[in-house]
Amino acid sequence: MNDLAGKHIVLGLTGGIACYKSAELCRALLKEGATVQVVMTEAAEQFITPITLQALSNRPVYSSQWDPREPNNMPHINLSREADAILIAPCSADFMAKLVHGRADELLSLMCLARPLDKVPLLVAPAMNREMWAHPATQRNMAQLTSDGAMIFGVGTGDQACGETGDGRMLEPQELLEEVIAFFQPKTLVGEHLLVTAGPTYEAIDPVRGITNLSSGKMGFAIARAAREAGAEVTLIAGPVHLTTPRGVTRVNVTSAQNMLEATVDCAQSAHIFIATAAVADWRPANPAEQKIKKDGSGEVPALTFVENPDILATVAQSPRGQSGALYCVGFAAESQDLLANAQAKRLRKGVPLLVGNIGPATFGQDDNALLLVDELGTQDLARDSKLALARKLIAKIATRTRAKGQKV
Ligand code: CTP
Repeated sequence: MNDLAGKHIVLGLTGGIACYKSAELCRALLKEGATVQVVMTEAAEQFITPITLQALSNRPVYSSQWDPREPNNMPHINLSREADAILIAPCSADFMAKLVHGRADELLSLMCLARPLDKVPLLVAPAMNREMWAHPATQRNMAQLTSDGAMIFGVGTGDQACGETGDGRMLEPQELLEEVIAFFQPKTLVGEHLLVTAGPTYEAIDPVRGITNLSSGKMGFAIARAAREAGAEVTLIAGPVHLTTPRGVTRVNVTSAQNMLEATVDCAQSAHIFIATAAVADWRPANPAEQKIKKDGSGEVPALTFVENPDILATVAQSPRGQSGALYCVGFAAESQDLLANAQAKRLRKGVPLLVGNIGPATFGQDDNALLLVDELGTQDLARDSKLALARKLIAKIATRTRAKGQKV
């Protein structure tokens, strides 16, 4: 996507075994269009060589404040002035403590202290043993760094190089990449709680069979990611799909339309925005069998009867919060023809201020889509693009509309 095109990142490595992940992170940043200047502490060089990072970043690595390559001998000034952000990954417990105290006895910490605070954000990916992470000193340092304006990306949980298991691993390169990309996105939904349904539902016929549809959940997951990037608290209610949960998003897995309704109604109590992208099955078998339905050899097929599923979007839109405008509801329409007419009719039928139309067969399972926004003022096309790019545009449109309606922002 080139989500980091034009961004220049100083990638700082400090001493920790997670340095091996930083090679991959460096590549990932470059692949998204960033330029990367690597700076390493002496301890980092015990874990990975500057040559590796030089080859990957295609730039000489800096590790000394006395580097003669800089004509003015001030790499801490020169390198930090060019940066759009300094990302310390891995950031050791010791380096966090140094940052807290404004120590500046080697190039990387010197550069962090010398950076213009209002122009060059400091992003921190801690990495350490679980006891070091849990230690009150580290937690105190983290709180102090946050209040000094640094962005701490948190840590992963699991097996550690030391053989112990717990919190403190550095996040994986792809997770850090997602965090860095999110950091640069406009924060249009800070303070908002956004709820999104995604994917298909599965309606059981018996314990081993059911009916579902071809929805992949990709559009809903992209919206959840874009909303979180915009600063919202996000709850994603997902039907059965095998997609990775976007960073920082709370996911609730459901199976049937009935499950999805219950989870949605519950979360809608505290949400400010609800976006229904799920392809909810319209009908479910009236009497799912408790045991597997067997062939009896007679050639007769079972007669299935169906009942209609609840309409989740309409239920939420017609609830007191939906009706009062405290909850801004957005529907999706998956059509196979007459998109405009169907979308306009569906908006009125569901009772929502905004309805987003798309052609189901052209989008189910795909990575891209095209959207038609229909509201009381008219229509607007969002031309074919990746689902994430469209999700970001849609979130920006929703943010503008909810602000205009004077909702809490
Ligand atoms: N929706 C819902 N609950 C349902 C059916 C649909 O919440 N039981 C929501 C979808 O998530 C979507 C919108 O309603 O936001 C429209 O879904 P769509 O499947 O396009 O429309 P239907 O209401 O099912 O109408 P039809 O099948 O006649 O097109």
